[in-house]
Amino acid sequence: MGASKVLLTKKQIQSRVRELGQSITYDYAGHELVVVGILTGSFIFLADLVRTIDVPVVIDFMSLSSYGALTESSGEVRILKDLEMPVEGKNVLVVEDIVDTGLTLTYVVEVLKKRRPQSLKVCVLLDKPSRRKTAFVPDYCGFVIPDEFVVGYGLDYAGKYRNLPDIRILELKKAKGQGGDE
Ligand code: PRP
Ligand code: MN
Ligand code: MG
Repeated sequence: MGASKVLLTKKQIQSRVRELGQSITYDYAGHELVVVGILTGSFIFLADLVRTIDVPVVIDFMSLSSYGALTESSGEVRILKDLEMPVEGKNVLVVEDIVDTGLTLTYVVEVLKKRRPQSLKVCVLLDKPSRRKTAFVPDYCGFVIPDEFVVGYGLDYAGKYRNLPDIRILELKKAKGQGGDE
């Protein structure tokens, strides 16, 4: 891949994911949880996280309009694929890889609230608060990160690098010269 520097190792991620799972298990003890993954970035975090949660879990996914090959948000969010199941009366936990401007999660929360869940919380692995354009604050957060473009562990650049087991800072100028897909 292009020039990159490891920001969070596989080990750091694994141990933090386990802590998040323990908090969630504690907070939802005795309740069933509907875990909503936002495609595509959340898929690896969600897969690891749900295996550390020890309450009954149902999993569903939602897909929103993507940034595509861009690294900047267009500012517009649309539903491309909705949930399969109704969430009325359910305890819903939205799982995301990262909150950046906050536009995606602000929209998701607004949409899901209208469906009258019993409770609605959001768990993100990464929070990049410096770029926020909304007042969004996650209920659970793995790591607060600086304003760098990160890839790996589900996070992509132009669809690539999601399979990296650690999270890396991508140096875009150098990466562009080598990637050949921009
Ligand atoms: C990324 C990331 C979050 C969103 C965060 O998704 O996975 O879903 O952007 O940005 P925001 O807080 O500025 O809205 P992306 O649109 O790149 O789609 P992907 O998950 O398919 O990579
Ligand atoms: Mn995403
Ligand atoms: Mg993306």
